[in-house]
Amino acid sequence: MCGIFGYVNFLVDKTRGEIVDTLIDGLQKLEYRGYDSAGIAIDGDKKGETLIVKTAGKVKALKDKLDNSNIERSTIFDSHVGIAHTRWATHGQPMESNCHPHRSDPEAEFVVVHNGIITNYRELKTLLVSKGYKFESETDTECIAKLFKHIYDTNLKANIEVDFNELVKQVLYELEGSYGLLVKSSHYPGEAVGTRKGSPLLVGVKTEKKLKVDFVDVEFPEQNQEVPVGSAKNGELNGFIPLSGAEASLRTSQSRAFLADDGLPMPAEFFFSSDPASVVQHTKKVLYLEDDDIAHVYDGELHIHRAKKNAGDSTTRPIQTLEMELNEIMKGPYTHFMQKEIFEQPDSTFNTMRGRIDFENHQINLGGLKAFLPAIRRSRRIIMIACGTSYHSCLATRSIFEELNEIPVTVELASDFLDRRSPVFRDDTCVFVSQSGETADSILALQYCLERGALSVGIVNSVGSSMSRQTHCGVHINAGPEIGVASTKAYTSQYIALVMFALSLSNDSISQQQRHREIIDGLQKIPEQIKTVLKLENKIKTLCTEHLNDQRSLLLLGRGYQFATALEGALKIKEISYMHSEGVLAGELKHGVLALVDDKLPIIAFATRDSLFPKVLNAINQVVSRDGRPIVICDEGDTVLSSSQTTATLHVPTTVDCLQGLLNVIPLQLMSYWLAVNRGIDVDFPRNLAKSVTVE
Ligand code: UD1
Ligand code: F6R
Repeated sequence: MCGIFGYVNFLVDKTRGEIVDTLIDGLQKLEYRGYDSAGIAIDGDKKGETLIVKTAGKVKALKDKLDNSNIERSTIFDSHVGIAHTRWATHGQPMESNCHPHRSDPEAEFVVVHNGIITNYRELKTLLVSKGYKFESETDTECIAKLFKHIYDTNLKANIEVDFNELVKQVLYELEGSYGLLVKSSHYPGEAVGTRKGSPLLVGVKTEKKLKVDFVDVEFPEQNQEVPVGSAKNGELNGFIPLSGAEASLRTSQSRAFLADDGLPMPAEFFFSSDPASVVQHTKKVLYLEDDDIAHVYDGELHIHRAKKNAGDSTTRPIQTLEMELNEIMKGPYTHFMQKEIFEQPDSTFNTMRGRIDFENHQINLGGLKAFLPAIRRSRRIIMIACGTSYHSCLATRSIFEELNEIPVTVELASDFLDRRSPVFRDDTCVFVSQSGETADSILALQYCLERGALSVGIVNSVGSSMSRQTHCGVHINAGPEIGVASTKAYTSQYIALVMFALSLSNDSISQQQRHREIIDGLQKIPEQIKTVLKLENKIKTLCTEHLNDQRSLLLLGRGYQFATALEGALKIKEISYMHSEGVLAGELKHGVLALVDDKLPIIAFATRDSLFPKVLNAINQVVSRDGRPIVICDEGDTVLSSSQTTATLHVPTTVDCLQGLLNVIPLQLMSYWLAVNRGIDVDFPRNLAKSVTVE
């Protein structure tokens, strides 16, 4: 839910001002992950001094605070570690004392930034308080900083000089929960340690000379050095002090990737981050940490340690090249990321299909699924599992799966699915749909299904995300980074990826050939048709200003394929403009909702012509006869109602029934955007919401 950024320079001269600017810039790129407070920790002027500056509010507030502080910007550091964080509160209000970095003591011997939740923090806190530690915040994170000092001091008392990464191992043995963690310490100047469990973290690497190899070896302890597990629940920490002093302080290896020809250390810069978006402008070389990896940067080298070696553990981590371009994550000519992402949809939908559909021969080839299609076809049922907008993309495509494949399909909200502990079997295929690939509820559901032996398929935007890596197979939707909190282009790309999935599954069916051709031809036209719908922006803007700005509530009516569109439109409006809105299945109108209808309640009706059009028209007429004046979304050239019976009519191009939702959702995305802008809401940062929901 939060963002971590760290910057290490080694033998590369940087002023403190430049270091601060790099940290602030990194945080700004992460702001969409959490933005109720921010902070940084850097070196002070005195030896061993650490400066922490933090504030509630956005990164801009932190920048202002730093600009107005008397921190000397011109001091030059040839080696330095800076850590930074942007937060979205989970434990404790967004206020300065709860901001990260958190410190171990007033001297800030250890400072940490953390994403995730430490579930045993209460026990740890009780224990540490009993040892005399004074807590300054309500956060779970602070106990990590204090624990570092406590374990460091205990080692010291026993005359054990412990290496930074060994110290991290000892601390991790005491922690339960999830974390992406970055630590800096005055006891280890110039060194930084980052680790993760269930929360993403990567390291960007920038060197002048080319690295010797494009991987880093994983360093495992000798068997007799493994640390026994301790727990604060025993009332005492007992998992640390495992090594004799001599063993603990040994640094035996040099990282092969960073070996210099002349044997001298290489100048290098390292960027720790929870998201590649903040790293790509500095370097495209990144190493994604795996759960329980400990990345230790010192003397211009990156080392990966693990506390334990299990059979089958990979012994290297690749240094990958990011394909993302910086301009992909900047706003361009748009005011907000959300607006940019809405207007990117002709490209993003095209990119989802690029290289995967042979439009001439009407063939689909999903590289990531091909080998698994026979197994999926044999499965007893398909369970689609997701949250929020991603859940709506499942609803939107469920019927095309059923129509083409005759396999029962259920669609589940991840949290509810877990609450019910729904039965899952080895012959089930579970499809996980997620933009971020890091949504906690969806990941927990994935783990639940994996434990039960089901085949898991991911439909994910973020390459390298937890979900993309933990599923057996899947499809990256290739929509590009989505930064606006409201999901827009991810929805249309998920929708298309799922339709392609449904088509691939039924590739062999002769009887479906005509339908396949029709859908594939339809898909080919979608990017151009989206461009046409986007031209409605001005009309929608006026509609919002004239009829909707001051309303408190809105109903969206849809049926069949358009029920998902109604739900998704309602979610967009709620989350961005804070106006109550509800997607209603048109067939359900007469079972209760009709009571709300009068001449004041704004209603949007999806009336594009598919087989259910007559039934939708019936519902619309019920609204009109109760003095309702709906906004009708219908096919180009169609007049569903006379102008006196409607507030407005929005025309969209016609496509195949199962794809129509891709076009119909766009006016709603635009409407939610303009309602929010007109109400003065910061569209990319709606209150109480964060882009990536990594807590349950
Ligand atoms: C892959 C490459 C793409 C290249 C193309 C050329 C990657 C990420 N993609 O795309 O750059 O242009 O080959 O042939 O390297 N996967 C999961 N779970 C998920 C999503 C994906 O396990 O949620 C797996 C897939 O099964 C596959 C791999 O990740 O093994 C890559 O998936 P995807 O990017 O969709 O594959 P391609 O389209 O073949
Ligand atoms: C709404 C929105 C959320 C997400 C949901 C799942 O605009 O963005 O409803 O769709 O939090 O997130 P992902 O897709 O990252 O799993």
